[in-house]
Amino acid sequence: MPSLDDFAELVRSRRTHMLVDRERDVPSDLIDKLCELGTWAPNHKKTWPWKFASFTGEGRNRLGEALVDDMRERGVGDQAKHLKTMTKYARTPVSLVVGCAPHEHPTFHDENRDAVSAAIQNILLGATAAGLASFWSTAPLIDSRRALELCGFEPDDRILAIIYLGWPTATVDAPQRPPANIIHISD
Ligand SMILES: Cc1cc2nc3c(=O)[nH]c(=O)nc-3n(C[C@H](O)[C@H](O)[C@H](O)COP(=O)(O)O)c2cc1C
Repeated sequence: MPSLDDFAELVRSRRTHMLVDRERDVPSDLIDKLCELGTWAPNHKKTWPWKFASFTGEGRNRLGEALVDDMRERGVGDQAKHLKTMTKYARTPVSLVVGCAPHEHPTFHDENRDAVSAAIQNILLGATAAGLASFWSTAPLIDSRRALELCGFEPDDRILAIIYLGWPTATVDAPQRPPANIIHISD
C-alpha cells in the first residue's frame, strides 16, 4: 500500500498537458490496464456505466472526422473550429474516449456520470504513475451520433472525456489551487 505522502505526491504531480513525443507509441496493454483501473471507481447501484474506446494511428483522424461531420450537420462551430477538430485527436499517440451509459432514474443517471468521472480520475492518476502525460478534454459534441457509433457505444450513451495520452517531453507548472475550504463541526 503506498503511503499517504506517496499518494499525495502522485495526486499533486498529475498535470493536464499534451507536450508529448508524437512518435513514441503507448503500448495498448498499458491503455487496457488504465481502463481496468477506471473500473475500480465507486459506482452506486453497480451499473458499471463506463465505456472505453482507444484511438491510435489513422483512427484518431476518423474520430475527428466523425465529430466534425456531426458538428456541420448540426450547425455547431465555424470553419476554423471544424478544421482544428478534424486533426486535433492526432496530437498525441493515443486519444482515449470515455463514455457513460444513461439510467432511466434521474438520480442514478447523475450518479452514473459521477462514477465515470471518478473512473476518469483513476485513469489520469494511473497514467501519471506510469509516466504518461494526460489531458482530459471535453468532446465538442458529447452526443455525436457518428462518434458514438465509431466508438461502439450505444446511441444514448454520452462522451464524458477524450483523454490525450503520450510520453511527456516537458513539464508544466501546476495551476495554484485555492486552499480547501473546510469546516469542522463536532458536538
Ligand atoms: C470535466 C472536465 C473537462 C475538461 N475539459 C477540458 C477541455 O476541454 N479543454 C481543456 O483545455 N482542459 C479541460 N479540462 C482540464 C482542465 O482545464 C484542467 O484540469 C485545469 O486547467 C487544471 O489543470 P491541472 O489538471 O493540470 O491541475 C477539463 C477538466 C475536467 C474535469
